[in-house]
Amino acid sequence: MEMRAYPDDYINLAQRLLGDMFYFAVKACDMDIDEYYSMFLVSDVSRQFQEGNPTYIAGKTGCEIVKEVVSAVDIPVTVKMRKVWDDDSINCLEVATIVEENGASAVALHGRTRQQYYKPPVDWDIIKEVKSHLTIPVIGNGDVNSAEKAKKLYEHTGCDMIMVGRGALGNPWLFDEINQYLKTGTIPPKPTPEEKLSVMVKQIERMCELKGEYLGIRQSRKHIVWYLKGFRGAASLRNEAGHTSSLEELYALVQKVLDMHINS
Ligand SMILES: Cc1cc2nc3c(=O)[nH]c(=O)nc-3n(C[C@H](O)[C@H](O)[C@H](O)COP(=O)(O)O)c2cc1C
Repeated sequence: MEMRAYPDDYINLAQRLLGDMFYFAVKACDMDIDEYYSMFLVSDVSRQFQEGNPTYIAGKTGCEIVKEVVSAVDIPVTVKMRKVWDDDSINCLEVATIVEENGASAVALHGRTRQQYYKPPVDWDIIKEVKSHLTIPVIGNGDVNSAEKAKKLYEHTGCDMIMVGRGALGNPWLFDEINQYLKTGTIPPKPTPEEKLSVMVKQIERMCELKGEYLGIRQSRKHIVWYLKGFRGAASLRNEAGHTSSLEELYALVQKVLDMHINS
């Protein structure tokens, strides 16, 4: 497959058009570059928002960018957004409507403001409201960390799909759990500790193939910590995981976990 240069082009374009007004990134997963674009409207450094002009994001610039990307590529473009800046400036229905009007194929909405970061509560009502006004699919997002919660989010909002973030960290089995629960109402058995560790090792080995061992291991440390959640002695293991510097050390750590957790 010939790799196209759209992501950098669009990031450059966005930077030219927007400066530091708000950071806009067009991100495409290399492997799926021919399948979809996911655009992240990230308002984190939006001076406009900070200066209390949140409607700007719904104005010409954001709208033009969506339109340009949609017309420049022949694959579906989706837009991911938060509930916007803070509780005084909720305009995500307006933003989502403009995004739809400008040709996006779906909108993913995290029901928290940027100021809220990850603090509770997540606002599923706003997802419901956006869903009830849009005709393109709405992907609900926020706090889904179990199959039951996934079902609740569907039921509460009527959204078309759900997006899972933190719940999948160290727990890639969550997707199977959700799918099975939605289809049958039952939840598959939890992975055994051995399965968990084996999948963790596979993931990190692949990361090392992709990035090289030095970077791969360092970028995987947080994943080791997430996978080890719930294991006996997790607190001290976490500390050790935070210092893992090679695959050899990873294998030694896994052996230690097995000895502590399974063989003791
Ligand atoms: C490790 C990590 C990386 C993330 N990267 C992105 C990202 O690149 N773009 C984005 O829009 N959101 C990103 N998010 C936010 C999630 O997509 C999601 O909106 C947020 O975590 C809320 O969902 P959750 O409650 O299921 O975690 C990231 C979240 C986490 C935990």
